[in-house]
This record gives sequence, structure tokens and C-alpha cells, in this order.
Amino acid sequence: KPQLLIDTDPGVDDALAILMAHAHADVLGLTIAAGNVGLAHTVRNARTLVDLVGTPTPVFAGCPTPLVRMPEEDAVHVHGVDGLGDVGFAEPQAVASAEHAAHAILRLTREHPGLTLVALGPLTNLALALRLDPALPQRVTRLVVMGGAVTGQGNTGKIPAEFNIGFDPEAAHVVFEAFPMFDLVDWEATLRHAFIDEDFDAWLAAGDKRAAFFGQVFGTARAFNRQRGRRGVIAADALAMAVALDPDIVTRSEQRHVAVELDGRLTRGATVVDWLGRLGQPANARIVMEVDQARFAAMVRRALGA
Ligand code: BDR
Ligand code: CA
Repeated sequence: KPQLLIDTDPGVDDALAILMAHAHADVLGLTIAAGNVGLAHTVRNARTLVDLVGTPTPVFAGCPTPLVRMPEEDAVHVHGVDGLGDVGFAEPQAVASAEHAAHAILRLTREHPGLTLVALGPLTNLALALRLDPALPQRVTRLVVMGGAVTGQGNTGKIPAEFNIGFDPEAAHVVFEAFPMFDLVDWEATLRHAFIDEDFDAWLAAGDKRAAFFGQVFGTARAFNRQRGRRGVIAADALAMAVALDPDIVTRSEQRHVAVELDGRLTRGATVVDWLGRLGQPANARIVMEVDQARFAAMVRRALGA
């Protein structure tokens, strides 16, 4: 079983990814970022998920704001005001640890060298951890990041940017510069790997309490995507989690140098991919272009108990 440490801002698709992780791997901890909604909500949602899966997975609260500039938007319109579809869950039993997420990332990577880091939200905690200890990349086997829009078809108010990177571009810059190689699952890959609505509904109907939970939290996100004219079930963080759990699921990837635009009149937060190798910089990212959709589906089904 792979050992995972997950940095996340749950988040509806984060929730699905966290269910997948617990079904297929040892989850050493959830370090929590602000992003989709504020930190108080994302921490509480992580605790709700820990109650649901019934494991003692530790939860560590991280940074409440981006490193430098305050965000211009959250994702309440997608994930609900509480970040999990405004279902109104009771106060969870699981408690968050007193240790800061950035410290927990450093400690857990020392205690479990070779683990896989998975980043499903803005990269604030990871950037802070890297500034505290630049040797961090040497202790992990892989870093998988859900973020970016490699040809500029983003999903935030800033046209070419993707939410996780656009929320904290400076943090993404720190992380992209620090890791010699990481796997990047971008928003555009997510759109190419949506599930057919009827298939997904059948899994929800056939599954156990995890499917019932996801069916409840998923309403606002589904309605938002439909209103945007997108068909199918889009689950960005679940796709990144599939890549983290099974690297062999990737059937096509491109290794390129990827940087983050920090200024830009229109492009702050954009992921700039040097497709033609003009910068003469070594590739730092394996950009996931295509995964085996049937295997991805099987992983999601198992996570829902279907
Ligand atoms: C990313 O932003 C969040 O809203 C999702 O949870 C995902 O991590 C997609 O752009
Ligand atoms: Ca997320």
C-alpha cells in the first residue's frame, strides 16, 4: 500500500479524493489549506471525512491566508458556503491536532521517508514547509499537484488561471521551483476525464455510506457545472488522487518546464508551460495528459463501496 500525505482544502472533489485515498492507501495525515472556503470550514470538513472513514487519520490546520496577496475569490459558488454542499452535518468527533500543517509535513516526511505527497488545494502550506526546510523534496518519492491550466483554459475569474494556483500564485511558484520533478494534473485534464452522469449516479445508488455521503455533498457542485454547460461529473482532485495512488494509470504525459506568472496584466496565477523548450530550463513537471479512464472509474467505485 502506498503511504500518502494529503494537503487539501475540502471541498467536494477533495472529499471524493480523500475517500479514494483511504480505500487504497495508508493516509498518514491531512494537512489543511484555505481555498475553496475559509480554513475553519476546510478543517471541519476534513474532520467530518475522518469520522466517515472511521480511521484515526490526523488532521493539521495550516495557513488561513495565501503567502502574499489576499485572494480575490473563493469557491463558495461551487462547493457551498460550508465547502461541503451545505448539508448541515453535525459537529464532527475527530479533533484537529495542535501542530501546524507545515510542521506536520516536515515531521511526517522525516518519519516516513519515501511517502507520496498529494496537493489538492492552494500550495500555501507546502511552500511554507519548503521555506522552513528546503531539503523536503529529497525525502518524498513523488509530489502530485492538482493545479494549473496548461493551455490557458482556466476556471477562475482570471481567464487563464486555475483556482488552486490562482488563489496563491506565490506559493505555487515556491513549490514549482523547489521540486526537481512533480506530477501535474491540470484543470484541462480534469475536463477530459469527466464521468458520464448516469454511470456516476449508478455508483452512488449502489454504494455504501460513503456513496450516500457523497451524494449529499455533491449537489451544489453538480448544479454549478450544469449551469456552466459542462456535462458529466468533473472531479479534479479525484483524478489527481488516482495518479498519486497508481502512477501506471497515466497513459500519456508531457515533461516540460512549468512556471507560475506572478505579475501580468491579465495573467497573474497562470501556469506558463515552456512547450517548445525556449527557456533552456530543465523540465520540472510531468504534465498528465491522459489516464486509463476505466481504472480511474474502478478506483472511484471502490471508494464509494459500489
Ligand atoms: C481545484 O479547485 C478546487 O475548487 C477543487 O477542489 C480543485 O482542487 C480545481 O480547480
Ligand atoms: Ca481542492
